[in-house]
Amino acid sequence: MGSRIKMWQTDAPSNIALIKYMGKKDFKLNIPTNASLSYTLPHLKTTVKLTESTHDHWKPLDGKQYITESGQIRFMNYLNKIKQHYQYDGGFCIESANNFPTGAGIASSASSFAALTKVASITLSELTKKPELSVDEQAKLSRTGSGSSIRSFYEPWALWQDDHCHKIDLGYDDLIHQVVIIESVPKKVSSTDAHKLIETSPIFESRQAEIQFRLDNLITAFKQKDWFATYQIVRDEFLEMHELFHTCNKPFSYMQPASKKITEEVETIWKDNNDGPLITMDAGPNVHLLFRQDQVELANQTKARYSEFFDVYTA
Ligand code: PMV
Repeated sequence: MGSRIKMWQTDAPSNIALIKYMGKKDFKLNIPTNASLSYTLPHLKTTVKLTESTHDHWKPLDGKQYITESGQIRFMNYLNKIKQHYQYDGGFCIESANNFPTGAGIASSASSFAALTKVASITLSELTKKPELSVDEQAKLSRTGSGSSIRSFYEPWALWQDDHCHKIDLGYDDLIHQVVIIESVPKKVSSTDAHKLIETSPIFESRQAEIQFRLDNLITAFKQKDWFATYQIVRDEFLEMHELFHTCNKPFSYMQPASKKITEEVETIWKDNNDGPLITMDAGPNVHLLFRQDQVELANQTKARYSEFFDVYTA
């Protein structure tokens, strides 16, 4: 009787930063220049499956193409790093898939690297009979593959500073998340390049001097349940990140007319109702909205409005 081929599978969520990770102190280890704060998005997930094989190779899970060739190489190089950690040299077939469509314009590196770290830790500990990595150890290792993936190990809120991250209690544990997909073509400037380019912006230095103050103010606003102050800080933050992109020595932009229009419409919602959603954007043109549970009606309205023109993913 032949021995059975073993396989392991798990998934991990994506996250959206409200105070952004933009700029690195250490490019090799992905140590950020400033602390960042994110909300975990359990409905946007990557699943990774590992099967023992003669050599390492990547395959789309369920037969669908989900990552670029360079993404596959980055993924396999990272698996090698975990294998070195466990002093294991056997091969694997890595299969991965997101539960949101390919090229939807939703950054998947956070969920992909977190899922690969989780499944590799289980797999390699079983195969080498060495202890599994703790969640904190997994998160730190994952950070070296993709910085923002460190935050995907904690929920609903994650605070990442230097080489470590932890869960933080801010209330608002069950926000309604929507992402309006303005454009789904691959980014012209990768976030890896963006982290380097923004250092040349004339506003980079003043941002570094003030960003911790903004983070502290945001945490206070959440804790005091001051939703309007929260909205203002989160909005200032994503606009400033995009300003870094627009003002570096090789300026670039992810902003689309529709991204600007939604930002303006959200401002109008706030003016008209004295209430509204939080709004943020990542290094891309898509717009993320976050609503409190008691704003479900408003969330349904914006979903209906933007679904006429764009794909809208929601929890
Ligand atoms: O993890 P990276 O290197 O892809 O950087 C992501 C940076 C942003 O998504 C733009 C902001 C953030 O904090 O997630």
